[in-house]
Amino acid sequence: METKGWKIFKESLNYLGSGSSTNSKIPVFEEEPAIIVKGNGCRVYDIDGNEYIDFRCALGPVTLGYNIPEINSAIIEQLKNGIIFSYPHILEGEVAKMLTEVIPFAEKVRFLKTGGEAISACIKIARNYTKRKKIIHCGYNGWLNCFDVSGTVAPGISRSSPIKGIPPEISSLHKNLPWADFEKWEKVFKEEGEEIAGVVIASNYKEMEKGKEFLPFIRKLTQKYGSLMIMDEIVTGFRVALGGVSEYFGFIPDLAVFSKGIANGMPISAYLGKSELIDTASEIGISSTFGGETLSLSACKAVIEFYQKNNVIEYLWKTGKKMWDGINDLFKKYGIKAEIKGFPVCPFFDFKNAEERDLFFRKCFKNGVIFYNVGYVCYSHKEDDIKEALEKVEKSIKEMKNGSV
Ligand SMILES: Cc1ncc(COP(=O)(O)O)c(C=O)c1O
Repeated sequence: METKGWKIFKESLNYLGSGSSTNSKIPVFEEEPAIIVKGNGCRVYDIDGNEYIDFRCALGPVTLGYNIPEINSAIIEQLKNGIIFSYPHILEGEVAKMLTEVIPFAEKVRFLKTGGEAISACIKIARNYTKRKKIIHCGYNGWLNCFDVSGTVAPGISRSSPIKGIPPEISSLHKNLPWADFEKWEKVFKEEGEEIAGVVIASNYKEMEKGKEFLPFIRKLTQKYGSLMIMDEIVTGFRVALGGVSEYFGFIPDLAVFSKGIANGMPISAYLGKSELIDTASEIGISSTFGGETLSLSACKAVIEFYQKNNVIEYLWKTGKKMWDGINDLFKKYGIKAEIKGFPVCPFFDFKNAEERDLFFRKCFKNGVIFYNVGYVCYSHKEDDIKEALEKVEKSIKEMKNGSV
């Protein structure tokens, strides 16, 4: 029987394009919660009253959990004084300063609303600064930059059909190169280095550890050719380390974008880096009415304080390890040809067989655990939640194996 959630979702297709404004949130399988009504801690609830332990965490932004009192009260207190004004609010400079204090290489900061938009700002800065046109991408950097023919259309998903909606004049200026393919990057730079304004790199979830050699290598390569290095820390910032993989692997990019994670789900992005670059943003026309919106800034301030007080980064690593090691053990025990690979704060579900992957996810959805191809833990996943989730995963795998519905 069709659930209330699916009925509402299907009805919404008459008015809401594709049923969701976020492609990766469009439900596919009947076992998925088609309509969510609330979240609390590490759990979400669908409109049919089902409860799920959530390892999607809104596709990354929820790093502390849903309905966190400290973050809620920061937002509510600010709401009483207004949301947005015609001049800067004190929070804008205050939160910028806090970010420069927790992100070692951030000299100056500016705010926007989404990750892709802030990446576009960095690309504009790089083109203006270098007076060059070409941009090299690695991984998914947001829909605004899905410009090149071989690009990534969503995190971990390569383009499978020809590029649409981008004139060849524009896509010819963008190229996507594979993560950690040292030779290819060197070759492209040898041939086109003098024309490359910047590289935009989102780390590869599955092979994150390769960043240890690869990212400092790119740092040197870009310096040699006078191109800017722009780090997409949208997922890795406030997860791998406060300063993302740049801090973790110990190199200094020219610019970086932080977004998911810095405000526990409130919509905000920060592009930051060298002062001489960020200072050009206003003169080249980068601007947004909502850049200094104060509810998100108040959440960001509360999140930074929460991280510092509770050592959230260490907690995410520890909890992620427990969860993903636990599932990997179950995969081995039951002969599932899959492994969860990468750093425990945002690893990748690597299945050999797509059908087996779909079946695994469907059984887990049915048993009340939500996954995505990138796994996310948050500060609200406590020991009992992990234990319960692993029991549910084991039940799901058993059902896969014996073919029960
Ligand atoms: C690594 C990475 N970069 C950029 C983006 C784009 O961010 P937004 O969807 O906020 O534009 C995403 C979103 O999933 C992402 O995962």
